[in-house]
Amino acid sequence: MKLSIFGTGYVGLVTAACFADVGHDVLCIDIDENRIALLNQGQVPIFEPGLKEMVARNAQNGRLRFSTDAPAGIKFAELIFIAVGTPPNGDGSADLSHVLAVARTIGEHIDGHKIVVGKSTVPVGTADMVSDVIASTLKARGVDHPFDVCSNPEFLKEGSAIEDFTRPARIIIGTSSEAVLKTLHDCYAPYNRNHDKLMSMDVRSAELTKYAANAMLATKISFMNEMANIAERLGADIEEVRHGIGSDPRIGYQFIYPGCGYGGSCFPKDVRALARTARSSGFAANLLEAVERVNDTQKHVLFEKLSQAFDGDLQGRTIALWGLAFKPNTDDMREAPSRVLMEALWAAGAKVRAYDPEAMKEARRHYGERPDLVLAASPQDAAKGADALVICTEWKQFRVADFGWLKANLLNPVIVDGRNLYDPAQLRKHGLLYYAIGRGDSV
Ligand code: UGA
Repeated sequence: MKLSIFGTGYVGLVTAACFADVGHDVLCIDIDENRIALLNQGQVPIFEPGLKEMVARNAQNGRLRFSTDAPAGIKFAELIFIAVGTPPNGDGSADLSHVLAVARTIGEHIDGHKIVVGKSTVPVGTADMVSDVIASTLKARGVDHPFDVCSNPEFLKEGSAIEDFTRPARIIIGTSSEAVLKTLHDCYAPYNRNHDKLMSMDVRSAELTKYAANAMLATKISFMNEMANIAERLGADIEEVRHGIGSDPRIGYQFIYPGCGYGGSCFPKDVRALARTARSSGFAANLLEAVERVNDTQKHVLFEKLSQAFDGDLQGRTIALWGLAFKPNTDDMREAPSRVLMEALWAAGAKVRAYDPEAMKEARRHYGERPDLVLAASPQDAAKGADALVICTEWKQFRVADFGWLKANLLNPVIVDGRNLYDPAQLRKHGLLYYAIGRGDSV
């Protein structure tokens, strides 16, 4: 099948590469000339395991192409995917200007029947808005071409995007048209094997399903972080509690890891946007607003623990930081807990010496050169001679640490762990003070 994909961010690029990989003919369109030039030179602007290789082999065999020529993209395919960004507006609502700009361009250049597929995470009602924009643009042109708009939200996770796309738990299609459903069924057939994972529903339910999934997951995390804060004050260990409740199949073990708050480009933005949409429909989403508040507070916990370890005086201290990305296997630092911590440390007059396996370039992009941020060559380089060590991201390579070396090389024996990676007894044995999440102060 011939597919056009508007937007070459995480979702667009992964979708395009995965579809090309199973034999579809894919044309990617982006207004960012630099990005398209990079992609045409074989460079992939984001870090995602396996993506570079997949893009390269499909670019080489001619099934995956990149262009800024939007009219050509519209003429090329019957299926047009919209996967452009929906960044947050100042008030927390989703900025739909990129999505609607693509809709307008489609209306301006459509020359036959097209199926427009919404992949971006968009507020309920956006597919209807896209339909209206295309229809009114066609009307202004004085032409009448048939088109359909459906919703096909994406559930992939950064860091395992290809795995998630190629082995989906579900493929949601929001449409009332049998013909659209059949075409999408054919399009996804190579990734829809063993049992049918495609679920069809009305377009608004599909749009809400995406927000509801992210809001539910974010709620699990904020719930666990709240439990961790309670456990800490009551002398209980949240890791024991996590095992205890996870064994109940109605609760389950997944996504109940306490930590230093959820980040990334999705949960914070989507929880906020859904709460905001609910409010503008006249309903106060009290739970969602609390989920967001709990998360904002949780992102300050690492700084508070450090402050406590140093009796509130962090002025002139150097803090080693392991992990800058919002989670492992990505270089993404959007809304990362590490950023809240670094900014608080700088405000308190401390210096940061950080190491991350992938996000160093991102850190420079966000903060530039500054005397109170040193990007270290290795985890040891970051920790050597620092006043304390903080772990913000649970990269695999941080899971095994040489505690004897840390005790000998940190100026003070203080480790603050935002991901509960270590066994407190072991750290105690090495004479280290260990401040984790929900496990008591210096357990
Ligand atoms: C999330 C969803 O998991 C995807 O299903 C969805 O498609 C995507 O958003 C999106 O809307 O596009 P992602 O943002 O890549 O994916 O990251 P997650 O792996 O879900 O992690 C989000 C945050 O939750 C991270 O900061 C992570 O550290 C935190 N987390 C996760 C916890 O603190 N505890 C947990 O138990 C799990």
